[in-house]
Amino acid sequence: MNYKIALIRGDGIGPEVVNEAVGVLDTVAEKYGHTIEYVDVLLGGCATDAVGKSYPDGTAEKCRACDAVLLGAVGGPKWGSDKPAEQRPETALLAIRKDLGLYANLRPAVLRPALADACPLKKETAEGGIDLMMVRELTGGIYFGQRERYNTEDRGVECADRMAYSEKEIKRIGRRAFELARLRRKKVSSVDKANVLETSRLWRSVMHRLAQEYPDVQYEDVLVDNCAMQIVRDPGQFDVLVTENMFGDILSDEASMVTGSIGLLPSASIGDSAPGLYEPIHGSAPDIAGQDKANPTATILSVAMMFRYSFQRPEEADAIERAVDEVLAEGWRTADIAKPGERVIGTREMGEKIRERLKSKG
Ligand code: IPM
Ligand code: MG
Repeated sequence: MNYKIALIRGDGIGPEVVNEAVGVLDTVAEKYGHTIEYVDVLLGGCATDAVGKSYPDGTAEKCRACDAVLLGAVGGPKWGSDKPAEQRPETALLAIRKDLGLYANLRPAVLRPALADACPLKKETAEGGIDLMMVRELTGGIYFGQRERYNTEDRGVECADRMAYSEKEIKRIGRRAFELARLRRKKVSSVDKANVLETSRLWRSVMHRLAQEYPDVQYEDVLVDNCAMQIVRDPGQFDVLVTENMFGDILSDEASMVTGSIGLLPSASIGDSAPGLYEPIHGSAPDIAGQDKANPTATILSVAMMFRYSFQRPEEADAIERAVDEVLAEGWRTADIAKPGERVIGTREMGEKIRERLKSKG
């Protein structure tokens, strides 16, 4: 096959981890007889520095002309919340997701066997294994609602962020969750705050209707506060979790941490047609940028998700995931996952180890 992939290298450690992932893409291409063309797309703080805005004109069009988008990370203290919106990297990230219609964000949290002791939970809890898929609604809710800031006479400045959800938005993300559950352990936990929020009551009723269409999938409602607690108490109980944008943002960070390192977790953002966008869950880590310290594994596993969800090539996806597991099983560790006293390798060497593994397999 011939694939065209947009590369958003971004800020901080972004360019370093994308480099390693591109190396893996090239290795996979060679091994399986694909050709890959890369298109560099400028987005984030680096775009603000280069052209004055984090989301340059034409960005979405450039991405739309590709089969998939790979993103490193964006953001950094240089472009903080005191800067105008159009200069902030986060604005660009939200905009590209919205413009490409990427309403479904899949964030798997898997405790990789070789790293079971990196899990911060009790040993008995970790032993049961963790393999959950967070399905986060990505283009609606409070992150996209109207924002207001105004002066009042007696209370100083007041602000408001509107949270809205339509049946249509809930249904399409719900469907994704049920379909994914069918390919996994057939359980959907829908997370809401229906005891307080009207959007959550709508969310719940739409999910209940959908659940009837999927009688083979076990379904449950979980309140978001209880869910946060259950993720640290017994994450093994969850298969697919589906939730609105902000709850998913928060819970996916929590779920990633119980697997030992946020440096290991990939994500896929997909819509109905536009190219999918694949990125590690971690941020741009400006404190270690340019030092060959970052763990490229999450970005490399994002490439595996790209093969699985955008290219319908599970074989390539499995091969990448296996290579990562083998390298970890051999004991290779970047600083974020090393135990005290363990030998630490850098970003480039970790990428190289994974590529070597990929090459050596028939
Ligand atoms: C994430 C990030 C973003 C989000 C920020 C940077 C806008 O936290 O991908 O989880 O909230 O979606
Ligand atoms: Mg987040």
